[in-house]
Amino acid sequence: MIMINNRLHGFQRSCRSVAFPRWTTVDASAHKLLVYLVFVFLSVTLPIAAGAKDNSDVVSAKSFGKTAKDEPVTLYTLTNKDGMSVSLMDYGAAVVNLLVPDRTGKLDDVVLGFESVAPYFTQTAYFGATIGRYGNRIANGSFKLGDHTYQLPKNNGPNSLHGGLNGFDKQLWKVEHKESNPPSIRFSRVSPDGEEGYPGKLSVNVTFTLTEKNQLRISYQATTDKPTIINLTNHTYFNFAGAGNRTILDHIVTLHANAFTPVDSTLIPTGKIQKVAGTPWDFQTAKPIGKDIKAVGGDPVGYDHNYVLEGGASCAAEVYDPASGRLMKVVTDQPGIQFYTGNFLDGTLTGKGGKVYPQYGGFCLETQHYPDSPNHPNFPSTLLKPGQVYKTTTVYAFSTK
Ligand code: BGC
Repeated sequence: MIMINNRLHGFQRSCRSVAFPRWTTVDASAHKLLVYLVFVFLSVTLPIAAGAKDNSDVVSAKSFGKTAKDEPVTLYTLTNKDGMSVSLMDYGAAVVNLLVPDRTGKLDDVVLGFESVAPYFTQTAYFGATIGRYGNRIANGSFKLGDHTYQLPKNNGPNSLHGGLNGFDKQLWKVEHKESNPPSIRFSRVSPDGEEGYPGKLSVNVTFTLTEKNQLRISYQATTDKPTIINLTNHTYFNFAGAGNRTILDHIVTLHANAFTPVDSTLIPTGKIQKVAGTPWDFQTAKPIGKDIKAVGGDPVGYDHNYVLEGGASCAAEVYDPASGRLMKVVTDQPGIQFYTGNFLDGTLTGKGGKVYPQYGGFCLETQHYPDSPNHPNFPSTLLKPGQVYKTTTVYAFSTK
C-alpha cells in the first residue's frame, strides 16, 4: 500500500471543522482498526436510524448529449438537504454545475462550464474535468522509469499537459456506483497500457460525495499492472459571484503554504523550493487575488503556480467572496496545490446561460503532486508500482460568513 501520511498537525487552523477520511496502511495498529470499525459501524447505522432517503430524489440523471462516436453522455445531479447540488457528467468525470448558497441562502452556480457536452470536446480549459494520468506539465513530454525513457505527446508548447491529447478529461467513464446517503457517485475506467504514452494498464476510479455539511469530497483510487506515474486532480474553475458574473480578482485567498515551486517560461518547475515570504506569491495572510497579481508577471500575467503543502490531511486553502459571503476551504492529503487564476481564459468561451468567460473569470485549486515530478528527484515521488494502491482525497467545504 502507498503510505498516505496521517500527520494531523497540518490539519489545523480554521479547516478543523472539515471532516476528512484518514487512509491507513495495512500495518495500522489494532487501536486504529478498532476506531475505524466503530466509525464504519456508526456511519452505516446512524443514517439508517435517521431514515435514509431513497436514491432517486438525491441522485438524478439526464441526457447531456453524445460523444463523437455517438455514445450517450449523462449528467448526474447530487442534491443534499440544504439544497446544495453538484452535477457531474460521465465524459471526463467532470463537475458541470455546483449550486452553493450565499449568505442569504440564495443558490448560484459557482463553477464554469457548458450546457451540453459538445463544447467540451474542443475547449482547452479543462473545465471541471478529472485530470490524468498526470495532472500538470511534464517537461518535453519525457520521463524515465528504470532504464526506459517514455515519450508522451507534446500538447502544450514543448511540454505534455494534463495527460496529453486524449487524457482522462476526453474519455467517457463508467458509472460504477451510486449512493444516496450521503449522495455520491463513482466513475471508473481502465486506461490501457500505453494510453497517451504512459506505461501500465491503470484501473482508476473517482468518487464524488456531497455531504449534508455542504462539502464536496473527491476521492481517487488506482492500481497498475506495471510501474507507472500518476498524478490525478480535478480542474474545476470557481467563481463565487456566480460563473460568468465578474472576475475573481476581489476574492480573498489564504494559502497555507510557506513555499512554492518557481517555473521557467514554459511553466516547468526550475526544481527550487522557494519561500513565499516577501513575494507576490505570499498568501499566508488572506489577501485579494488581484492585490499583487501584476507583480507575479508571466505571459499571460497571473498565478499559475504549485504551492508546497505540509502533507497529511492539510488545510491547504481558504477562499472568501465578501460580496456573496461564500467561503470555501480546501483540505487535502496531497503534497501540492496548483493555484491557477484563469490567466489563459480570453473571452472566447461562452458558457452556461450565454455568459462569456473573461480572463480571471474563475480560479482553480488543483490538489496534486508537483508539476514535472518524474524529472525532479527532490520532489515527492509519483511512481505507482503493481501491488500498490494509489488513494487520495480532497474536500471542498462550503459555508458563508
Ligand atoms: C495549468 C495552466 C493551464 C490550465 C489549462 C492549469 O492547470 O496550470 O497552465 O493553462 O490548466 O486550463
